[in-house]
Amino acid sequence: MNITLDTTNEKMFVEENSQLKEFDLYSNQAFEIISDQWLKIGWDQKYPYTFTWLGRPIIQLPEDIIRIQEVIFSVQPDVIIETGVAHGGSLVLYASLCKAMDKGRVIGIDIEIRPHNKKAIKEHPLYSLITLIEGSSIDPVIVQSAKNLIKPHEKVLVILDSCHTKNHVLQELEKYSDLVSPGSYIVATDGSMKDLYDVPRGKPEWAEDNPCEAALEFLQKHKEFREEKPPWLFNESNLDQNITHWPNAYLRKDG
Ligand SMILES: C[S@@+](CC[C@H](N)C(=O)[O-])C[C@H]1O[C@@H](n2cnc3c(N)ncnc32)[C@H](O)[C@@H]1O
Repeated sequence: MNITLDTTNEKMFVEENSQLKEFDLYSNQAFEIISDQWLKIGWDQKYPYTFTWLGRPIIQLPEDIIRIQEVIFSVQPDVIIETGVAHGGSLVLYASLCKAMDKGRVIGIDIEIRPHNKKAIKEHPLYSLITLIEGSSIDPVIVQSAKNLIKPHEKVLVILDSCHTKNHVLQELEKYSDLVSPGSYIVATDGSMKDLYDVPRGKPEWAEDNPCEAALEFLQKHKEFREEKPPWLFNESNLDQNITHWPNAYLRKDG
C-alpha cells in the first residue's frame, strides 16, 4: 500500500492493488487509515510499553485502558478475572476502579509472576483488592482455584491477556466463559496480532494464529455470546471505530 499525505491541498491518496483512492485529509476515512498505520508503527516502536497505572507498568494502549474503564463502570462487576499479569499495572487499574466504585475485586493469573513484580504488587496500596494465582491459565487446577474464589451470585467480567496464540485463547474462552455473568463480557485482548504479522517485530503466522480467530471459533459454538463493541458512552464526533489493539475482543453474554 502506498499512502501519500498532501497537507497543502488537504488530500490523502491511497494506492493499493493498482487502484488509486482519494480522500479529504480531514475526513473520518483518512483518520481511520492513518490510525491503522499509527497502530502498527506504534506497536513496533513499543508505544504500549511506556505507561504506568498508579506506579505499576501497564502494557496497554491508552484508548484500550479508557474503553475497559467504561466497560467496568457499566457492568459494575463483583469480580474481574484477568489472565496475564506481567508487572501488575492492569490489575492495579482494575483495583483502582473497584476502589473508586466501592465495588468489586480482582483476580490475576499468570504462569510466572517474577519476584520483583510480585513484591511490588503485594506492597501496592490496592493489594487488598487483588488476589494473585500463579500457574498456567489453562491448567485445570488453576482454573478451579480461580472458580473457588467466586460466589454463585457474583457478577464476573473476564479479561484474557496471557498467551495470545489461537489455541491458548480458545482454551481460555472455553474454560472461563461459564463464569461470565449475563450482560457481562469475556474480553479476548490483543487481536491486533492479525494486523501486525507484517511489521518488523511481527511474525507471519500471526495472520492466522491470533485471538480474533479464537473468538470467531468460540462464537460459532457458543450462541449465548456475541461479539459486541461496547457502546461509546460519550461521542460528540463523527467517529465510531475504536483505535485499538483489542479488535473484535468484547464477547458479551446474553442477558
Ligand atoms: C501481555 S502480558 C500481560 C500484560 C498485562 N495484562 C498488562 O496489561 O500490563 C502477558 C503475560 O501473560 C503471561 N502468560 C504467558 N503464558 C501464560 C499462560 N499459559 N498462563 C498464564 N499466563 C501466561 C506472561 O507471563 C505475561 O506476564
